[in-house]
Amino acid sequence: MHALLFLVAFISCYIFIKRNRSRVTGKLPPGSLGWPYIGETLQLYSQDPKVFFAKKQKRYGEIFKTHILGCPSIMLASPEAARFVLVNQAHLFKPTYPKSKENLIGPLALFFHQGEYHTCLRKLVQGSLSLDNLRRLVPDIESIAVSMLESWAAGRHVINTFHEMKKLSFEVGILAIFGHLEGNQKEQLKKNYSILDKGYNSFPTKLPGTPYKKALLARRRLQEILKEIIFERKEKRVKERDLLGCLLNSKDETLSEDQIADNIIGVLFAAQDTTASALTWILKYLHDHPKLLETVKAEQKAIYQLNDNGSLHLTWAQTRNMPITYKVMLESLRMASIISFTFREAVTDVKYKGYLIPKGWKVMPLFRNIHHNPDFFPNPQQFDPSRFEVAPKPNTFMPFGSGVHACPGNELAKLEMLIMVHHLVTRYRWKVVGSESGIQYGPFPIPMHGLPATLMKESIQEKKTICGGS
Ligand code: HEM
Ligand SMILES: *[C@@H]1O[C@H](CO)[C@@H](O)[C@H](O)[C@H]1NC(C)=O
Ligand SMILES: *[C@@H]1O[C@H](CO)[C@@H](O)[C@H](O)[C@H]1NC(C)=O
Repeated sequence: MHALLFLVAFISCYIFIKRNRSRVTGKLPPGSLGWPYIGETLQLYSQDPKVFFAKKQKRYGEIFKTHILGCPSIMLASPEAARFVLVNQAHLFKPTYPKSKENLIGPLALFFHQGEYHTCLRKLVQGSLSLDNLRRLVPDIESIAVSMLESWAAGRHVINTFHEMKKLSFEVGILAIFGHLEGNQKEQLKKNYSILDKGYNSFPTKLPGTPYKKALLARRRLQEILKEIIFERKEKRVKERDLLGCLLNSKDETLSEDQIADNIIGVLFAAQDTTASALTWILKYLHDHPKLLETVKAEQKAIYQLNDNGSLHLTWAQTRNMPITYKVMLESLRMASIISFTFREAVTDVKYKGYLIPKGWKVMPLFRNIHHNPDFFPNPQQFDPSRFEVAPKPNTFMPFGSGVHACPGNELAKLEMLIMVHHLVTRYRWKVVGSESGIQYGPFPIPMHGLPATLMKESIQEKKTICGGS
């Protein structure tokens, strides 16, 4: 499936280099522009960055040219270079995504843009996800997490952790976007969105019956559902502080329905698989490090007991004071580096450290490489949350990106993860089914098969052992 997707990018970029090659002058970074092997491209996404980069980096240094997905690209593996592209000279590099993805999400979503339009939308999205707003979401996120956990444990059957976490991150996304949505609307949205979701990583063909075509049709139905929700919200005339409220009450300019819809779908997309795969990795790492799990448990149980053994709600202040769990979360984000790298495209010829980055070339800051560089993170393959007792060096830790396009949802994602872990470790035990290790791409890295697991209430487990002993 993925190979097919790459092939499409491959063809489109092939045409593109032919056009441009003659124009390029100046010293390009070292590296080879030989045709890529699909296998090499796949390795780029792999957990162990050594596979793809060690040779190249050793040979060429922190900046080198290559072909990736068929496009001539310049890869940047140093914090300074990432800062140059994402922060200092961000205006010289525009975001770039496959057209097929833009069509599914909607071309007016903020992450496809730069300049004034991007700034304006970003302000609105960031405003809706401000700490002040998130604080008020704690009880709702908590009740979503609690009922998810209950449903996973109830069946006593094996769950696909990643799929279940996607349900959680979807619900939280809906909450941040719409506040409380009427049941029927939510159901329709959920069903149609899941069809759209299946299209994101499918081969982009408009042949009827294919996942991509179905996704396009679902996207159109989603537009109708969103129109209806927007209409009802306008009728109500109350100013909500959720994302829809922020988009509707923009002071600078009135947004069109398409602008609002594309950005809502965009945020749902950006919020769901990312957070779900991060949570899945946290569960995996905790499971693989039982001693660490005990310390996380101790931290969370202390909070749990303060809250009358869970009969009181978690408070915002408590979520801001979980130092051990917080470091486990950061280390999981570093280890897994869910967004391994990002793509930009040079909008003009750019000079960096004496090298030419030609207009139209792709530029890729390699987050995962930086996160796994022993100069910044000693013993990088070891899961060690204590490394975060001191702050990482500037621009070396970018799980949420950096600069003008940095993740506006990072605080929500972290809050959601902390709340989930709190309820998970205080009340449940989980067993990972099968001992298969390995990574799968969806396209974000997740543990093999989505980490199949069973979950049970801790009290039940305890009774069991007592019975077993008698
Ligand atoms: C663990 C979870 C998450 C991770 C690791 C993550 C990571 C990232 C990264 C690396 C970027 C920058 C991409 C680039 O520069 O090309 C980004 C952008 C973005 N993220 Fe997240 N994200 C997460 C969760 C969320 C959530 C929960 C939301 C929304 C509620 C969200 C909304 C966005 C949006 C809208 C952008 C585009 C911003 C822009 O272009 O200005 N993300 N995210
Ligand atoms: C999708 O949305 C439409 C409304 O546009 C609705 O009638 C339908 O039930 C929804 N669900 C599915 C699975 O298509
Ligand atoms: C909470 O549970 C613990 C252990 O089961 C017990 O010792 C403690 O008294 C309980 N605290 C409250 C406030 O109920």
